[in-house]
This record gives sequence, C-alpha cells and structure tokens, in this order.
Amino acid sequence: MRVSAKPASYRTLSIGELRLPFPFTLAPMAGVSDLAYRLVSRSFGVTLAFTEMISARALKYGNKRCQDMLASVDADRPLGVQLVAGDQESILAGLEVLQQRPFDVIDFNAACPVSKIVRRGEGAGLLKEPQRLQELVSLLVQRSGKPVTLKIRAGWDAASINAAEIARMAEDVGVAAVCVHGRTRVQGYDGAVDYGIIRRVKEAVAIPVIGSGDIFSGELAMKMFGETDCDGVAVARGSMGNPWIFREITGLLCHGTLPARPSKDEIISTMREHLGLSMALLGETLGVLTFRKFFVWYSHGFAKARPLRTKALQARSIGEMLGVIEELHAAP
Ligand SMILES: Cc1cc2nc3c(=O)[nH]c(=O)nc-3n(C[C@H](O)[C@H](O)[C@H](O)COP(=O)(O)O)c2cc1C
Repeated sequence: MRVSAKPASYRTLSIGELRLPFPFTLAPMAGVSDLAYRLVSRSFGVTLAFTEMISARALKYGNKRCQDMLASVDADRPLGVQLVAGDQESILAGLEVLQQRPFDVIDFNAACPVSKIVRRGEGAGLLKEPQRLQELVSLLVQRSGKPVTLKIRAGWDAASINAAEIARMAEDVGVAAVCVHGRTRVQGYDGAVDYGIIRRVKEAVAIPVIGSGDIFSGELAMKMFGETDCDGVAVARGSMGNPWIFREITGLLCHGTLPARPSKDEIISTMREHLGLSMALLGETLGVLTFRKFFVWYSHGFAKARPLRTKALQARSIGEMLGVIEELHAAP
C-alpha cells in the first residue's frame, strides 16, 4: 500500500434530501456512462451516478435510443438523469416520460460543447443566455418533484467567464447543487482545468458545488478539493477503464492512503464482468460491440497490447471478445 502524505479528510455530500456517504459522483458521459458502466463503477464505490446526456426534445418524440438510455435496475440507485433542452415545452414533455421511470436527481446540462447542440441554444449555448437558462431550470425545479442539479462550464469563452453568476441564479430558483467543469466551451477539453473558477463558484453560493475536470487519479481528486474547497467531485475520463479510481478516492478520504493498484487478474476479471453486464443488458451483438471501446481503455496499462486492441475492435461474438480478454494474461 502506498502512503500519501495527506491526512484523511472524510466528508459526505448532500443533494437535496439525498445523503451520499462519499463526496464523489460518476459524471454523465455520452456514449460511456450506460447502465453496465454505472453498475461496474458502483461496485467500486460510486453512490450517485448519472446517465448519459438525454435530449428532452428526443424523449418528447419517443426516440428509442433516448428511451433506452433511461434503462435502469434497482442496483443502479441513486440515479441522476441528465437532460439537455432548450425550451420549456420539451422539458415538460421530457418530465412526462421521466415520471414513469425510477430516478432520484435531475441534472440539467448547460455544459455540452458539441456544435450541433449549442447551435440549437442548448447545452453550453445556454451560458450565453443566463436569463433563459434560469427560466428553464426554474421550470424543472417547480415541475420535477426531484432535486435538480445544474452542470455548467466556466463560461462560453475566456472573455465571458460567468459560472459564479450562473450558479447564483440557479441557487435563487432552487437548484440543489451545481457541478462546474472548469473549462470554457471554446476550450472543449483542451488545456488544464481552471481550479480558480470553481473556487469562485464555491464562494458565491451556499448550495453544494461539485468540481469537474482532470480527475484522473485519487490524488487529483484531493487536489480538486484542496484547490477549490468544493463539496464533491465528478469523475469522468479518469474512470474510463479505471473504475479503481473510486477506490483510490475513498482510500484517500477515509484513511489518507492510496490502495494498491489493481492486479492484472483483477483488471481481467472486471473486464469479464463488464462484458457480461453489457451482454445481459444489450444482447450479445450490441453488448460485444459496445464493449469494444471499453476493452481499449481497460487494456491501456498493458504493454504490447496493440494487436489485442485491434482484435478486440473487430470482435463480434462473446467467444471472440472473451478470447482476446484471456490473451491479456500473456501481455506484459
Ligand atoms: C466521452 C465524454 C462524454 C461526455 N458526455 C457528457 C454528457 O453527456 N453530459 C455532461 O454534462 N458532460 C459530459 N462530459 C463531460 C464530463 O462529464 C466532464 O465534465 C468532463 O469530461 C471534465 O472532466 P474530466 O476532465 O475529469 O474528464 C463528457 C465527457 C466525455 C469525455
């Protein structure tokens, strides 16, 4: 066990009535945080996990893919559903669909940088229209009957950093917590996360502030807490192929120590479990296809695994995929 110089700093996180034993969440990630991914993450200590971003407009039109993103099971609670929307009618229609589904928190996305989303005045596009954003979030708070959280970025660009002002507006209309990705929309995922803006948001509001950005290890989670004084952290890319990050964060928070990195056997058995869940939830063909990218991420730390990644990216059946996973035993 590696020992950290930092002292244990155990804390919990409350979102509305929801009490989380640990102050971290699995961030929403389109194309990544599906049900199987959430269940694997939960097995390593995640309490609150978020769905992929779901378009309220698409829900309104009965889009099958969006409906499938709402799939959940009892073990997948508490669950946050993330909605992206740009108009009140879509929000109300989306809420109607959600009423028949079990979930615990609604997260509103004002952070997505994708051009097709912002062009519609949704996602990070709303950072340019704080008033409209406040109206939409206010409607969600009034009509959802669940705690509403808001995901934002630092601002649209370096010249229009407004996360603190938006967080205050959100707090005024009853938002339960705000999650700040410390980059602007224009930055996308480039450059380092700006801890300063997350700290300024924390100073501006009394509701919990969840910091997002560059949490690639337990130590970087502690850095986010230390630099920003945030109440919680949202783990995104750092969990891809690395659900052990949640164990690291828990170890540092509770004991001030980092648990050992997973052994090769543990990585391989987690891959098998993840693949099994993917197949059980999606069927063999889609389950295997969906697992391909996860194979690439899990195999990241294995030397000379490139030919195996190529094979995994072509696997079509459970037998083929399990075969490639087995071959990792021989990789250095
Ligand atoms: C593949 C991918 C998909 C993402 N999808 C979403 C999403 O659907 N909704 C959202 O609010 N943020 C999304 N994000 C942003 C993350 O939640 C997080 O805020 C961001 O990646 C910064 O954290 P990180 O630097 O630790 O990865 C996504 C990020 C990635 C890498």
